[in-house]
Amino acid sequence: MTQRRPLIAANWKMNGSCELVQGMSAALSQITTTNEILICPPVIFLSSFPKSDAYQLGAQNVSNELQGAFTGEISADMLRDAGARYVIVGHSERRALYGDNDAMVLAKALRAVAANLTPIICFGETLAERQQEKTFEVIAQHLDAVYAAHPELLATSVIAYEPIWAIGTGETATPEQAQAVHEFIRQHVMKFNVVAAQQIRIIYGGSVNAENCTALFAKPDIDGALVGGASLKTAEFSAICLTAQD
Ligand code: PGA
Repeated sequence: MTQRRPLIAANWKMNGSCELVQGMSAALSQITTTNEILICPPVIFLSSFPKSDAYQLGAQNVSNELQGAFTGEISADMLRDAGARYVIVGHSERRALYGDNDAMVLAKALRAVAANLTPIICFGETLAERQQEKTFEVIAQHLDAVYAAHPELLATSVIAYEPIWAIGTGETATPEQAQAVHEFIRQHVMKFNVVAAQQIRIIYGGSVNAENCTALFAKPDIDGALVGGASLKTAEFSAICLTAQD
């Protein structure tokens, strides 16, 4: 059985404040866990976090360009310099609101890896796609767009399964629903590299909270969580980070 270190990642989205940075940093420094903890705040806060062994830092987006005349963009190298070690790529809000498509997601993931950042690549189906029983088909298409083209990314990325209908809605996928998709993802990417498919961490996102995380983390292919709303509450996020995984 491959040992995969659970990753509990906070996606603050366009939320947070200097007070939250201080409060979260203090709270996380007090807990002991073997899980890896990651905070992805708005990039402006990256340099405000005190250096700590208790958590890693990440960004929520990265430019697909290296450098140059791209007003408003931030490069992977800049994120790395600012303290980020991870970057979320292809979040459904980016895909829906800012036109990030699979080609862009791949380009961003490659830029991240080139700058020594680990991309957390997000995939998920809409409610309509789930109702039409197209979940596996949709996920397979997204996976192929990234990993068939660049199978080496399997060894250098994290996958986040985030059913779009569960994000920010309070409606979580059941542990069984999530496990079924995680297992499908792992099986699917095995055709690119068996060993890397067993080792890659597949985390779940979509209304994860301190109550529902225990049952989700108990599933064999769920290697952690990408937490939105609940990651803005220091006590609740700490509790999620502390939840034991087997
Ligand atoms: P949520 O967000 O936990 O608020 O549903 C998760 C995400 O969008 O990553």
